[in-house]
Amino acid sequence: MLKLAVCVSGGGTNLQAIIDAIENGTITNAKIEVVISNNKNAYALERAKQHGIEAVCISPKEFDNREAFNEVFLEKLNSFNVDLVVLAGFLVVIPEMMIKQYRNRIINIHPSLIPSFCGTGYYGLKVHEGALERGVKVTGATVHFVDEGTDTGPIILQKPVMIEQGDTPEVLQRRVMEQAEWKILPEAIDLIANGKVEVADGKVLMKE
Ligand code: GAR
Repeated sequence: MLKLAVCVSGGGTNLQAIIDAIENGTITNAKIEVVISNNKNAYALERAKQHGIEAVCISPKEFDNREAFNEVFLEKLNSFNVDLVVLAGFLVVIPEMMIKQYRNRIINIHPSLIPSFCGTGYYGLKVHEGALERGVKVTGATVHFVDEGTDTGPIILQKPVMIEQGDTPEVLQRRVMEQAEWKILPEAIDLIANGKVEVADGKVLMKE
């Protein structure tokens, strides 16, 4: 049974998609041990509690500096002994120490087709604003492993979504979530939980 920590900062609709997929059997061999938020007001914490999942908040605001926060965050995470960390709308830069300790054991959902509209400054609505500004006709979502760069790790799954004339960033965000994010994030977890994902030469290979 793959033990998961899900890290969140906001509404938690991706967390909800994972919870639903575990409950309805779309994800097998996985269990959420803990949901960790950096923001005490994140509705995601509520969603976790409603499903009997331990919900923890560790806010950088409670620490003198980022190093102190990083240390406590990592200590807390380690105390749950998880196999996989899922960043589901987690808007905190992951400390290098944690990336080393959890090499190829942290995955992130990003709301575009990487390498478009990703990297520093591209998060949440800003990603969709960028896509509309550029006038691309297709966008989508990507699930990838987290490495030392921003959105540069090995890509696990991607799904395209069509942009429609008249889209606003909010409308596009919702379509990308519904048509891509809520599908490929649970799917990636299921693949990992069932031993189907391998990383070689910085790329993901799917095992039969
Ligand atoms: C999602 O769209 C996710 O892809 C994005 O934040 C949103 C969180 O929504 N993540 C990033 O932009 C990471 N760079 P949620 O809290 O409802 O799941």
